[in-house]
Amino acid sequence: MTTTTTARQVDPAEHAYASELAFLAAYDGGPRPPGWRLTPRAVVTFITGSDGRELELAKEDRREGLPGKLAIPAKFVGERALVERCVVTLAGERGLLLVGEPGTAKSMLSELLSAAVCGTSELVVQGTAGTTEDQLRYGWNYALLLAHGPSSEALVPSPILSAMRTGSVARVEEITRCLPEVQDALVSLLSDRRIAVPELAGTDGATVHAAPGFTLIATANLRDQGVSEMSAALKRRFNFETVGPIGDLAAETALVGRQARAAMERVKAPFAVDDAVLEALVTAFRDLREGRSVEGWDVERPSTVMSTAEAVAVATSLALAQAYFPGDRDVLSLLPGHLLGVVRKDDPADGAKLLGYWDGAVRRRAEDGARLWRRLWELRDVLGG
Ligand SMILES: Nc1ncnc2c1ncn2[C@@H]1O[C@H](COP(=O)(O)OP(=O)(O)OP(=O)(O)O)[C@@H](O)[C@H]1O
Ligand SMILES: [Mg+2]
Repeated sequence: MTTTTTARQVDPAEHAYASELAFLAAYDGGPRPPGWRLTPRAVVTFITGSDGRELELAKEDRREGLPGKLAIPAKFVGERALVERCVVTLAGERGLLLVGEPGTAKSMLSELLSAAVCGTSELVVQGTAGTTEDQLRYGWNYALLLAHGPSSEALVPSPILSAMRTGSVARVEEITRCLPEVQDALVSLLSDRRIAVPELAGTDGATVHAAPGFTLIATANLRDQGVSEMSAALKRRFNFETVGPIGDLAAETALVGRQARAAMERVKAPFAVDDAVLEALVTAFRDLREGRSVEGWDVERPSTVMSTAEAVAVATSLALAQAYFPGDRDVLSLLPGHLLGVVRKDDPADGAKLLGYWDGAVRRRAEDGARLWRRLWELRDVLGG
């Protein structure tokens, strides 16, 4: 028999990091909250990494198929304390709401948390203006329903109902995009920890009770209609954590390089963008995001967010151009055009602000003699000024 493995564009975290998760489960045998695969401490280590240290399995914990030693790389770049608070919230079976600007890794963090806690990140509902209550509770297989009437077999559970049955973590992405009355379906579910199925009254399936371990992680984007519009009743059932942009230039540059490199590995193409170019790219993103350059000069902020996620996308585009059009032109010459594309996303008039950045910070750095910035200054025409 031939086995075919179908390549996936995106591997869920529990699959991509299966060996790390198995290792951590063996490494830390301490007490776990009900339904958890790992100890809370091991979940934090999985997400924030082991600081380059190799963790070593005790003799009695060694098993075939597990490495004896393993260094766990950091996946989420940010405060360890924030991740600890998230883990504590989940250990208490409370809802966790991750809020923040777009592209700050809220979804990534929720995926990593759910994969580590319960072994699956796939019980997810994507919130949109069209999300219905059924998508949060349950629906029906109409062919079975019409043929045999309501029965447990005909019930189509939502990801949340499945999580309740198995004591897992369900995720609701972009919760504030759902209509308030749809959001409110979560209130009763989070307080009663059960879903009634009136159609099945009188049978075993009339009420689904949440198994220990069940909880919810929701994400909300500050640029969408607000978290402030969530009902007080629902807010009270979640612990809020704000995820901010990465604080440190070097950490952000390293992350952007790592992620762009990984993206190139996925398409099996070489990565050949200099660290200096990556640093210039991330510096420009941060200056424009913060409204202040590294040197402390004022910069006019565009209305778009200039997120790390966008910086990764630009770095990947540069690497792809380099790989597929080698020798056509140097990658640095592509940077201003990509920056312009990002800056103008919310307001096309913001192109002028990028030009202002060029005439201010970029020019001053060029005059100070930095070669790479001099080259960028020479490319000012690309910005159409
Ligand atoms: N602090 C961070 N640590 C690790 N990766 C990060 C960080 N910030 C941004 N990223 C990168 O950004 C990508 C996008 O993150 P993600 O989609 O999770 O953001 P989000 O906050 O959910 O955005 P949105 O609000 O638009 O849904 C991640 O896959 C990662 O490449
Ligand atoms: Mg998201």
